[in-house]
Amino acid sequence: MAQIAVRKYLKRDREAVLRITAESFEGFCLEENMEILIGRIANKTWQECKHDAIEYDLRNNARHAFVAEADGQVVGFVCTRIYRDLLIGHVANLAIAKDHQRRGIGKMLLQQALIHFRECGLKYTRIETLEQNFKAQKLYPAFGFKEIGRLIYYMRDL
Ligand SMILES: CC(C)(COP(=O)(O)OP(=O)(O)OC[C@H]1O[C@@H](n2cnc3c(N)ncnc32)[C@H](O)[C@@H]1OP(=O)(O)O)[C@@H](O)C(=O)NCCC(=O)NCCS
Repeated sequence: MAQIAVRKYLKRDREAVLRITAESFEGFCLEENMEILIGRIANKTWQECKHDAIEYDLRNNARHAFVAEADGQVVGFVCTRIYRDLLIGHVANLAIAKDHQRRGIGKMLLQQALIHFRECGLKYTRIETLEQNFKAQKLYPAFGFKEIGRLIYYMRDL
């Protein structure tokens, strides 16, 4: 069994994070839903669109991101944002490489995010997921998150 270590995100992890994003979010992200419904947005694949969203956090909130390593290889990440005025820590994106899922790494990264939020002096944390994401809907309530609302996304051509 591989040794798992969680540590702060470093710039050199970027490629691994983007690779994990492309493989693990298949079937579980809005960007892919959009492509299925209306085709490529701005000529980008859904993976490229999702990369853009993750890159936003890697650029702007790098010090609030963490990775999990299995035997020295990055196999998962969590990107978070801090809303200091509201004392809320937002778990923006969490993903584990397909071959390493269901081994407790998602739980470890989520736990790390919560520890980080407490260290930042925050009082609350929030997270969201799509209705089609049955895994996340098991994980988050098991972690003590309570449902606060549901949002429906719509889109159409102009
Ligand atoms: C959701 C995700 C982050 C979970 O990470 P993971 O390392 O596989 O999860 P863990 O092994 O820590 O399992 C935590 C819990 O998640 C739930 N879970 C994970 N995979 C599941 C599956 N295939 N079926 C049902 N529940 C699942 C279970 O409640 C599990 O606890 P248990 O093993 O005690 O039953 C991972 O599946 C993933 O990267 N998915 C794709 C990206 C994604 O959906 N990210 C979240 C967006 S909101």
